[in-house]
Amino acid sequence: MEIIKPTTAKDRIILALDVDSTEEVIKYVDLLKDYVGFFKVGLQLFTSCGYKSVEVIKEHGGKVYFDGKFQDIPNTVAQTCINLLKHGIDFFNISATGSSKMMTSTLDACNEYAKKNEIAPPIILAATLLSSFGQKTLTNELGVEMNISEYALKLARIAKESGLSGVVAPDTDAEKIKKELGEDFIVVCPAVRPTWAIVNDQIRIVSPSDAIKAGADYMVIGRPVTLAHDPVAAAKLIITEIEEALILKEKGI
Ligand code: C5P
Repeated sequence: MEIIKPTTAKDRIILALDVDSTEEVIKYVDLLKDYVGFFKVGLQLFTSCGYKSVEVIKEHGGKVYFDGKFQDIPNTVAQTCINLLKHGIDFFNISATGSSKMMTSTLDACNEYAKKNEIAPPIILAATLLSSFGQKTLTNELGVEMNISEYALKLARIAKESGLSGVVAPDTDAEKIKKELGEDFIVVCPAVRPTWAIVNDQIRIVSPSDAIKAGADYMVIGRPVTLAHDPVAAAKLIITEIEEALILKEKGI
């Protein structure tokens, strides 16, 4: 997959399919493929339905983003990501906390595989910090004293130096990341919550308009759409909010 910047508001939405059956996958893809850019296959769906979930998304006209946040020794992650390429998945993430060695090994192995098999090089992102983490967890449990968004920026810097295409970073962390690492370095923002949605288990949440204002290219949204009484209406509201934020951003407001 080439790195193509999203052009429309819809393209920027990655719908998190945190469900357990291909029936539900088909239901959401048929319902929402005209209102979102990508469908996220993550750990819940993959451990329930495996590659079948990816096949049905594609068969029903959706595009796939794979969220595995892989972290293991470099060889294991590299071979795991080659398996994704073998199944036609070319937009996915690994964990920045797995080290620069893990990220470069994975990138090199994937690019080599892509070249050999004459497919486009994948877009590999690094997940920085989970949006369910706050400063307290980072400091008290992981022993990291650094400010949480500074720490996310540090991980993003390592990801960029390792050659990855971008990062997954919550809240408004995109702002500092874009400023230091450049506009072309992709930022996917998770834990997006429009003001009308409930927060669930997320801590560092951000509204679609604030995510855009901060510079996020894509946003991962799950339950505010999937659990809405009318998922299409919810997606349309988010599209409108993104469009309005893009206009303001263009005007520098
Ligand atoms: O339902 P909700 O909108 O809270 O879903 C958020 C999604 O964002 C989940 O699927 C979660 O796995 C994902 N996520 C992510 N990257 C992170 C943190 C969460 O893609 N760093």
